[in-house]
Amino acid sequence: MVAGKTAIVTGGASGLGEATCRLMVREGARVVVADIQDAKGEAVASDLGDAAIYRHVDVTSEEAIRSVVDETVERWGRLDCMFNNAGIVGSVGPIDEMPLDEWQFSIDVLLKSVFLGSKHAARVMKPQGFGVILSTSSVAGIQGGLGPHAYNMAKTAIVGFTKNLAAELGPFGVRANAIAPGKHNTPMNADVLFGDPDALERSLEYFTTKATPLKGRAGLAEDIAEAATWLMSDRAGFVSGHTLVVDGGLTTGSVEGAAPGRGRFASHEPMLREGGRRGI
Ligand SMILES: NC(=O)c1ccc[n+]([C@@H]2O[C@H](COP(=O)([O-])OP(=O)(O)OC[C@H]3O[C@@H](n4cnc5c(N)ncnc54)[C@H](O)[C@@H]3O)[C@@H](O)[C@H]2O)c1
Repeated sequence: MVAGKTAIVTGGASGLGEATCRLMVREGARVVVADIQDAKGEAVASDLGDAAIYRHVDVTSEEAIRSVVDETVERWGRLDCMFNNAGIVGSVGPIDEMPLDEWQFSIDVLLKSVFLGSKHAARVMKPQGFGVILSTSSVAGIQGGLGPHAYNMAKTAIVGFTKNLAAELGPFGVRANAIAPGKHNTPMNADVLFGDPDALERSLEYFTTKATPLKGRAGLAEDIAEAATWLMSDRAGFVSGHTLVVDGGLTTGSVEGAAPGRGRFASHEPMLREGGRRGI
């Protein structure tokens, strides 16, 4: 599927990025685990053996991104996949109380990072004539009310930017896609829910029983790893400019935790066109 490919995964030390690094290597790829959590990133890379290295990369720094892209090409001869995935929840709270510096910091981590990752990946992928740029959006970029403001703005922008990128890079043989996770059991969400990024068992229980549109099934990091690996593989070779929503149906209007059969159209009634005859 992705055997022989080389990839940089930002945010690769934890959660969705870590699960993607693990699956990519299992499927035969070589990955750079790029993150700022050095101990966690080193541990993931060492677990993965020769097929992975860890590099400290702050995704808000152009120099750091430029250098990890160049090092990957020098080391492995090519860059097949750039996964712009690192992220934070960022600034929260009502719009009229949001400090500008917090908003700016959030946008830097969530969106400037995607610009920089895409810019430097394209710099080497265009002359190569192949490659895939994948970026992590969110259901908060698809629907209102699912995330704080800066987060929503960044994740929505990623959906649009991905289309523009695909339009520009298609003629060079380079694909660009995004992925929009729903609610997944990762350290980020464990931290939001319980103030502890390591409380993954508790958050798994919470997602499985209280916050899922699919009965008894929480969103897992591995669900995103599967979708991301497919999008970066040749099997998705004609998919470009697309944002793949992987949310268990959340943004279709499903209700989290609803009993089966509940909802406005759940029970059978005479067809609506018969309403006139019934005097409705
Ligand atoms: N977990 C979810 O339910 C969910 C839903 C929608 C979108 N997302 C998005 O998925 C991505 C990954 O989230 P996750 O849930 O795996 O969170 P996570 O906290 O487990 O992992 C995020 C990683 O990004 C790294 N990171 C943060 N700032 C960085 C920086 N400046 N430079 C480099 N690395 C940095 C962190 O150190 C961490 O290892 C994020 O972009 C997030 O917004 C997650």
